[in-house]
Amino acid sequence: MTFTYYGHSCFCIETGGIKILFDPFVRGNELAKDIDIAGIQADYILVSHGHGDHVADLVDIALRTNAMVIGAYEVIAWAQKHGVQNVHPINFGSANFGFGKLHFVPAAHSSSMPDGSYGGNPGGFVVNGGEGKFYYSGDTCLTMDMQLIPRYARLDFALLPVGGNFTMDADDAVIAAQFIECDKIIGLHFDTFGYIRIDHEAAKEKFRAVGKELILPKIGESIEL
Ligand code: NI
Ligand code: MN
Repeated sequence: MTFTYYGHSCFCIETGGIKILFDPFVRGNELAKDIDIAGIQADYILVSHGHGDHVADLVDIALRTNAMVIGAYEVIAWAQKHGVQNVHPINFGSANFGFGKLHFVPAAHSSSMPDGSYGGNPGGFVVNGGEGKFYYSGDTCLTMDMQLIPRYARLDFALLPVGGNFTMDADDAVIAAQFIECDKIIGLHFDTFGYIRIDHEAAKEKFRAVGKELILPKIGESIEL
């Protein structure tokens, strides 16, 4: 699998030749100003919740790529209102797609769309594909529910927010990594705004101390996993 980082919580996982893009937010991110969204490809776009820092570029990329947009029913209704036609609404539970089995699992956060409309339940995703298995928690604090994830999949890696303030910080992400029984964590949702700036070395050391690895990717970077 190949992970490519577009900043904040926007990334692409290529698995079995299928590109899955998550939480498209690039143009409003000053740190990602070198990313050209016209170059972002996707077969599927998965949306964790409706906040602007997760959907700002969703409509543009969905219309250009004709990728199938998967997210909460209310997120999908908003996308449809903006002309997106290739959609698949879900709620907490699971469904099968071309890339494998997908669980949409609870996140403890909030969710409203950029126009103020209700965004449904915020969530995270467990992808159980032929090439591997991973979990993206979306924006959330640490929850006991994360202990269910190992029942769904023996994870190859997981993507967790580490910026604090709106989500888990690195300390809680370490506990989350223990709950989900995963040793390779990619940190997201850090440095974009003043509230979520972090000390990279200190965060990595917290994971190292418990025998786990925290990767804080550079924007534009691709990593083989
Ligand atoms: Ni959010
Ligand atoms: Mn967010």
